[in-house]
Amino acid sequence: MNNKPRVVSGMRPTGQLHIGHLVGALKNWTTLQDQYDCYYFVADWHALTSEYANTGGITGYALDNVTDWIAAGVDPERSTIFVQSLVPEHAELFLLLSMVVPIPWLERVPTYKEQQTQLTEKDLTTLGFLGYPLLQTADVAMYDGRFVPVGDDQVPHLELSREVVRRFNQFYGDVLVEPQPLLTPVSRLPGLDNRKMSKSYGNTIDLLDDSDAVTKKVRQMYTDPKRVRADIPGTVEGNPVFTYHDAFNPDIAEVDDLKARYRAGAVGDVEVKTKLSRAMNAVLEPMRERRREIGARPDRVREIAVEGSRRARVVAQETMARVRDAVKLRY
Ligand code: TRP
Repeated sequence: MNNKPRVVSGMRPTGQLHIGHLVGALKNWTTLQDQYDCYYFVADWHALTSEYANTGGITGYALDNVTDWIAAGVDPERSTIFVQSLVPEHAELFLLLSMVVPIPWLERVPTYKEQQTQLTEKDLTTLGFLGYPLLQTADVAMYDGRFVPVGDDQVPHLELSREVVRRFNQFYGDVLVEPQPLLTPVSRLPGLDNRKMSKSYGNTIDLLDDSDAVTKKVRQMYTDPKRVRADIPGTVEGNPVFTYHDAFNPDIAEVDDLKARYRAGAVGDVEVKTKLSRAMNAVLEPMRERRREIGARPDRVREIAVEGSRRARVVAQETMARVRDAVKLRY
């Protein structure tokens, strides 16, 4: 029996993973495995909330992402890796939660309006999209998830989850557990051009990029625009090259030295960037190797996802039995 507290987190399979996913989620996911009983899943229904018009890529990305999770160190023996849509109980819990959640609570979640104004090419006036954070609530509550490792963008979703769970419990007794966010320690990585890192901006470094591609992308990275020459003092804070150094370079003395010389105008960008791509490739190469090994056996990855979903489903069915009892819908 596993008595460790549960952690639940998911990722939408909408594309290939990049270093933002690694630093913002995966690294944390792997560390948490020591202390927690972890449930990590492919949120394919969540992908549908915005990609419903174009669903062909989802299963491919799902298995590809799981391959990256394992390559990054998520251990299918210790953690339960599963696919949301293979555990249809999530839909049932979502439905029951929808009975008690007032629509304005969902309309008030900041990402709801934000995404509608940002993704104008998609019609996001759907019930499914409005229900996004409610489905997320079901994902977590299903496993009595106490902690949810997420980036700060997800905090409002977790807040809604807590309110919904409290309201549900008011009606039906103490059935569901209130989840807490477990914020990822490193702040968000900017993209190569210092905007938000996003596939649609073309400013990512992908986990699939080989070492030459990484070196080349780093060479083109945005730095301090004031520094047209190496002897001009530069700004370290908010400079993506140094944010990346902090995230990837384990040699703190080297990073401190580079920062000091950068501030003094005593180092060229080439040296800063060469050391950066070397540090990044040292982190990424072992993952690429594992990815090659695992990727050579796609059936194994599928098997892990299917077997994990079977295990998750056992827990989900126990939860739903308890929930149906509480709602007095047991026949
Ligand atoms: N909304 C999350 C994201 O975009 C994905 C997600 C879905 C999730 N369900 C979840 C994360 C449950 C944590 C817990 O990153």
